[in-house]
Amino acid sequence: MGINSIENKAAGASPEPHVAAQEALAALVLRCVECDARYPGYETEARYRCKCGGVLDVEAPFRLPASKGGNEGTASVWKQLFDERASTAPIWPLNTSQLLPDRSGVWRYRELILPVPESAIVSRPEGNTSLYPVGLENCEEGRKGHRQIGAYAGLEHFFLKHEGENPTGSFKDRGMSSGVTMARLRGARAVACASTGNTSASLASYAAQAGMQGIVFLPAGQVAGGKLAQSLAYGATTVQIEGDFDAAMQLVEQVCNELGVYLLNSLNPYRVEGQKAIGLEILQQLNWQAPDWLVLPAGNLGNTSAIGKAFRQAHQLGLIDHLPRIASIQAAGANPFYRSFTQQFARRERVHADTVASAIKIGDPVSYARARRVIEESNGIVEEVTDEEILAAKAVIDRSGIGCEPASAAALAGAKKLVARGIIRSDERVVGVLTGHMLKDSHTGIPQSVTGQTIAPALDAVKRALKL
Ligand code: F0G
Repeated sequence: MGINSIENKAAGASPEPHVAAQEALAALVLRCVECDARYPGYETEARYRCKCGGVLDVEAPFRLPASKGGNEGTASVWKQLFDERASTAPIWPLNTSQLLPDRSGVWRYRELILPVPESAIVSRPEGNTSLYPVGLENCEEGRKGHRQIGAYAGLEHFFLKHEGENPTGSFKDRGMSSGVTMARLRGARAVACASTGNTSASLASYAAQAGMQGIVFLPAGQVAGGKLAQSLAYGATTVQIEGDFDAAMQLVEQVCNELGVYLLNSLNPYRVEGQKAIGLEILQQLNWQAPDWLVLPAGNLGNTSAIGKAFRQAHQLGLIDHLPRIASIQAAGANPFYRSFTQQFARRERVHADTVASAIKIGDPVSYARARRVIEESNGIVEEVTDEEILAAKAVIDRSGIGCEPASAAALAGAKKLVARGIIRSDERVVGVLTGHMLKDSHTGIPQSVTGQTIAPALDAVKRALKL
């Protein structure tokens, strides 16, 4: 199916804007993070890496929409634009083909994401996730349970951004929205990724929406059951491989380059652009008052790269007055980035990964070079936490009533450790990112069965069972 037929099928609109979009995208620059080489943002053959093997980063000038002057704009005009869009009444039109990018927590910031026509956007919509105040000082009495998290970390002003509240249950939906939009502009018929669960479910959902074939490469036996079921239900083709995530990642890159399938792992620079919106949304929710720290789990290093880039760009635009320090938290059994950090990034390390936190069980992170830049420029830090620390932190988040998947809990475990080490002060403003939903890896760290015996359906029996 060519770009015209996809366009006609999906929206019934003329194909012209998409040709124009390809031209607009070609004006963007893909810059190699390793050697600085530059490529056009749109080429007939999709490009995921530099000729030197380095990963690529999108560089784009930012322009306000014509209604706001069409120029580079000042910080206050940008803030006003995003705040107006965020306050759009939550009313859905009956005509579902009408896109509402202002309602998406990604496309609300579209001038900073991708310059594409609104009719080309593939969106659920995603984002608009909660930022829970959970610190000892910023959590109200009515949320006593949530406050336990602040007490556990030892933080007075602490927030948790719950990306598990996205449509398919993880932050992946943000980058998938921009990635599948790009696939649609390219006229791609099939899209693929390697995944331990979340990326595959997200890809499957967005590919289904856009009428493309979704192909997911999974490390056999290492994918959470619910996530596999989700991908299958959305209609994705699954390929189980004998090997771990790192092997699946290598294979899918080769497959996409050889077979012309469009690659949608975060190696794809356009996925990172959508993922930046996590950072932008956090800043907007904090009324553009940048936190002192952002603490997040780190596996393939996509979030470290994307959120760090969002903060850098927000700072360049004057939306915030300082760069938050980024703390990337790795599992001790999957800690190549931590190992490199402890030697001032003198060497890129690779490990054979092993941790209960399946989403960050990654030994050779694709976005290493992008993330290194973020840690260096934000005066950030990389920390490691053991599986025991991850599961203890998960229990605190679960019992608070919020809940998250194991990998996400690394953020709290890491924050606690950095406070204990005196690196984060207890009175600093800290945001932690919970990357995925608690129903993933639900065999890990939570009770597996209802306790007690089956009872008769009678009040007396209940009194005895509950000891009331
Ligand atoms: N948290 C969750 C819930 C994830 O699903 C992932 C990655 C990460 C953290 C690590 O992300 O790149 O920001 O370090 N999941 C991939 C997947 C592996 O296949 O879903 P990063």
